[in-house]
Order: sequence, then structure tokens, then C-alpha cells
Amino acid sequence: MSAAPASAAPGVAPEGAAGPALLVTGLAEVATPLGSTPRRGAEQGRVARLAGAEVLCRDGRIAFVGPPEERRRRFGELPEVPRLDGRGGTLVPGFVDPHTHLPWAGSREEEFAQRLAGRSYQEIAAAGGGILSTVRATRGAGEEELAALVRRRMDRMLDWGTTTAEAKSGYGLSRDDELKQLRAIARAAAGHPVDLVPTLLAAHEVPPEHRAARERYLDLVCEEIVPAAAEAGLARFCDVFCEQGVFTVEESRRVLAAGARHGLLPRLHADEFVDSGAAALAAELGALSADHLMAVAPRGIEALAAAGVTAVLLPGTSFFLMRHVWAPARRLVEAGVPVALATDCNPGSSFTESMPMVIVLAVFELRLSVEEALTAATLNAACSLGLGAEVGSVEEGKRADLVLLDAPNLLHLAYHYGINPVAAVVEGGRVVHETRGPG
Ligand code: NIG
Ligand code: FE
Repeated sequence: MSAAPASAAPGVAPEGAAGPALLVTGLAEVATPLGSTPRRGAEQGRVARLAGAEVLCRDGRIAFVGPPEERRRRFGELPEVPRLDGRGGTLVPGFVDPHTHLPWAGSREEEFAQRLAGRSYQEIAAAGGGILSTVRATRGAGEEELAALVRRRMDRMLDWGTTTAEAKSGYGLSRDDELKQLRAIARAAAGHPVDLVPTLLAAHEVPPEHRAARERYLDLVCEEIVPAAAEAGLARFCDVFCEQGVFTVEESRRVLAAGARHGLLPRLHADEFVDSGAAALAAELGALSADHLMAVAPRGIEALAAAGVTAVLLPGTSFFLMRHVWAPARRLVEAGVPVALATDCNPGSSFTESMPMVIVLAVFELRLSVEEALTAATLNAACSLGLGAEVGSVEEGKRADLVLLDAPNLLHLAYHYGINPVAAVVEGGRVVHETRGPG
């Protein structure tokens, strides 16, 4: 692939607009869902496949998608506009990863080894490991140290085609440490091509110092941490780990209501290990997403469908926890629930930054079609972050966040597995990552 850097051509202005431009040519196809609202049911698998299309970007936006002849008719030859040579590859929207726990310190490979020897994730957590071991490490880390760790993870995300990601706190579990994590997210995001959307997850676990009186911790979350995070403008969403042994439905409702009072939109970790009615709570609150859902019951699925809540599925977590339990993706699609995909990137239950890996798992284990998985990893994921009008599809007017796959067609995204299929990444109309030079 070759691309003159877009910044090398300031002022190039097709149709009179100001700002740099980029023309993506030589593609086998552009594959993209269409629209700015979540795709559900049969629509989830309806993906436009535009053979031989070109994509023109200007001023950070997509200005044109379609056949070269039409582009010439509307815009002329554009000899001055830098090209990204698609070399017979497939262009898809930049991946959107709507559920990650990016700002953590430390590592949990010892626990991983224990799990390989047969110990369960819950047993390790009950013995004081799990989330709490990462809380200890994260509390001990400085803000810049955390930001540097986040940046490294974002670099890896970009290598694998992610251009927008959500990032949660939840390993601080005190006012200062939760805010430190959120500030680290903001610091890491500044100037990095990957766009981060921050979520407050102070209700991820009850910290050791509040174990004897958990209501005190809930008071702290609702009355101090939520208002402080909202006032500082450090979070857009409020999340809670609604799960047996963590936070009950009633406690979760209270936390999410506090978030909503302060303008933080609800999303939640729901029915991951046990059906506790968390999906129904997501529906009741009109949450933007209900995430995990490995144990969701039929009535939870019905509630999500009726309320139009997006199911964010995290097959990397099923894989990494080796429980052979997968979210009922087919039943969710068939019930009309929009399905999105995410990495859940975290040190305990899913240590990956790779959306292509998640797509492979979704196709092979959740039995989504490749088209359904693409919609899940782009448009539906964007909608679950409230960004459906901005990103998530290759359409005129949307932000020019694009991924060039070294693949002759969309099917290769899952068919050729275990490799990194990303040849180049365009963010805001600029080539920000390329794996190969020309020739
Ligand atoms: O989404 N389920 C809760 N939280 C994370 C795991 C976090 C951890 O183990 O550190 C998850 O899987
Ligand atoms: Fe999670």
C-alpha cells in the first residue's frame, strides 16, 4: 500500500472545500453497513458490498463512495489529491470497540496460570485475586504511568484497525483513584489517532476497606464519585457490574440513577455468569447497552428487544475464561436485538486489543455471519456509544475512519484467521497506520 501523507497536500480542495484530502483507489470492494441507527434482525447482516468503489475523503469526512467514473464526473481527475492505493484489498469502516477496561496497571499472568491448572475465575476472585489484585496495582500507579500504559494499548488497537473505543475506570474504587484513571484516559487520548469515550465504572467491585459495610461504598459512589466525575467532564457513561456476588439489581439501579442525574448515560455489565435480571434492568432504564449476556434468560432477551437496547457481546471473554459458555448471539439477532462486539480488553478475563480476533470468535463460536459480525464491530458498536451519526459506516458525511484490509473480499476477515488483516488505517481522512510500503 502506498500513501502520500494527507498532511503533505495542505489546501487541496475538491469542489472548493478547504483542507487536506485523500482518495482511496484500487480496491476490490468497500464493505459497510449503512445508516446511523442500530441494525437489528435481518438488517444486521445487510452489508453493502461495492465492487471497485473509490472513497474520497476531505476535511476529515467521507465526501464520496462509489464507482471511479462517477467520482470523475463529480469531482474531476483530482491529480493533486494524495492516493491510498488499495491494491486489491477490502475497505471497511474503522472498528469501534465499545467495551474496554484500558487504564490498568500490573498484570495477572500468575492467575492465568492458575486458571490453566483448573482454578476458576470466581475462585481466584473469592481468594482476593481477580479485580482486586488489579485494583492494588492500579492504585499504586501514577497518572502519567497509567496514561502511558493506555497509549501502548491504543497503539496496538490501531494496529488491528480500531479507530474508536470506549474505556472504563473501575480499578480505582476510591474517589481519587477512579478520577486518576479517567484523567489517564483523557491524557492518553489527547493527540492519539484512536478516539476514546470514557465510562465511569466505580461500581466494578466493593473495595476491601468497604467490605464490612458495602452501603457506605454505594453512598460514596452515588454521592461523591459520580458527581465528581461528571462535574470534571471526565466520563460520558456510567457502568456497573450487575452480577451475583458483586452488585444486585437494586444496587445497580441506584448507581445508574445517580449517573443519570448527573448526565452520565447508563450501560452495564449484565448477566455475565448468572442471570440476575440485569438485562431487564438495562431495558427498564433504556441503557445504551447491556454487555456480556452469557447467562441471559429468554425474558431478558425479550426485554432488550422491546426496549431496543444493544447487546454488546464479548466472545473474547468466553474464550479467555475457557468456560465454553457463549452468549446466545443467534437468539438475540432473531429476537431483534441489535448486536455489537467488543474486546472487553482487561488483564483478567480478556487480554486482547484485537477486534479482528473478536470477529473471528463471533463468527466461529457465536455463529454470526461475517456480515453480521462486521455490523456488530462497526455501526452497532458506534450506536451503543451514541456515535452512530459520526462513525461506524463508510458513507458520505461520516468521519473518514477507514480500515484497509489485505483481503480480496469481506469473507477473508474471518476466513483467514490468526493473522492481522489490517494493511492501513485512515483516521479523520489521514493515513495514521500502514503495515507495508509500496512495492
Ligand atoms: O468485563 N466482569 C467484570 N469485569 C471485567 C473483568 C475485569 C477483571 O477481571 O479485571 C469483565 O470481564
Ligand atoms: Fe468488562
